Amino acid sequence: MGRIMARKMRWLRPKFLQLLLLSVTFWSAQIASRCMAPAPLPRSSILRVAPVAALAPLPAEAALRELLAKRNARELTSPIFNIPPKQQVYPSWLEGSWHATSSFAGFEFPTLPRAQVMRQDDVPGFKKCSIIDFADVGKSPLEYNMSFVNQQGAVVEDLPYNLRSSVAAHLGGKGRITSVDYNPQNDPNRITIRLSATKNAERVELFVNARDSEQPSEEPDLFLSSEYRRQVTFSSRVEQGYNCNYQHFRTFQRLGPDKLRLNILTASYLDPLSPLYFDTFDKPAIVYAHELELTRAPTTPA
Ligand SMILES: *[C@@H]1O[C@H](CO)[C@@H](O)[C@H](O)[C@H]1NC(C)=O
Repeated sequence: MGRIMARKMRWLRPKFLQLLLLSVTFWSAQIASRCMAPAPLPRSSILRVAPVAALAPLPAEAALRELLAKRNARELTSPIFNIPPKQQVYPSWLEGSWHATSSFAGFEFPTLPRAQVMRQDDVPGFKKCSIIDFADVGKSPLEYNMSFVNQQGAVVEDLPYNLRSSVAAHLGGKGRITSVDYNPQNDPNRITIRLSATKNAERVELFVNARDSEQPSEEPDLFLSSEYRRQVTFSSRVEQGYNCNYQHFRTFQRLGPDKLRLNILTASYLDPLSPLYFDTFDKPAIVYAHELELTRAPTTPA
């Protein structure tokens, strides 16, 4: 939170906002076109459409093209879910070990005035470790390793490795993950993480409630995914776990055999117990953007 406060003035320049909105359009075009339209809408045409569009809200089932033309972070609504999602499978070009340079690229308040959101302390991302894979949002740039492994012919994320690696980088020696319980064969949607040396997070339970992905057939170097999580963070200082709901929208772009760009938009939702919940409902209170440059590491992690 302190870090966010310190940075907010710096990051709220129009340039960053534009960047963020472009990214939003980019992923939503891809993911949404798969869900609703028979033929995907080419990205280039979306970028041409509507630098400024009407902001009147549309019903959820409204035409996609109109929706996308709005380039509006408000459209990042939390999903309705009932069926447990399957483990995320990635394209073969992601397999291997990667060296990542992660940069915080900005944030936006799509629903409530900035000052009102900043006064809350229960917004995902404000407290350390409340979004476990960006354990200190705003700390930038950071370097860490990532790994995607081939498991019985399917490329999947080495989640324990990636979590340990990104948490260590974000906490910079002041905290680390001591264990990750994750058994995707039994349940790809439950992860238990234990941490040391952070006061407000000693154990984190992740529940993935929804996933979506798309590999556009006309753009084989592009892969998009979304993951909606509930994270409950426990500390011995407080009796109850602390709930955060957030959703990562990841856009992987292959630039060459050994180079990728990864854009991650993280929509942070307010908890239903938050006094402001009814002002946002399923829309995020804040959206963070991260840009990662990935280069292939010479060896795979042990
Ligand atoms: C990343 O992996 C490389 C080996 O490819 C290793 O030398 C390096 O120490 C790792 N970096 C971090 C931050 O873990």
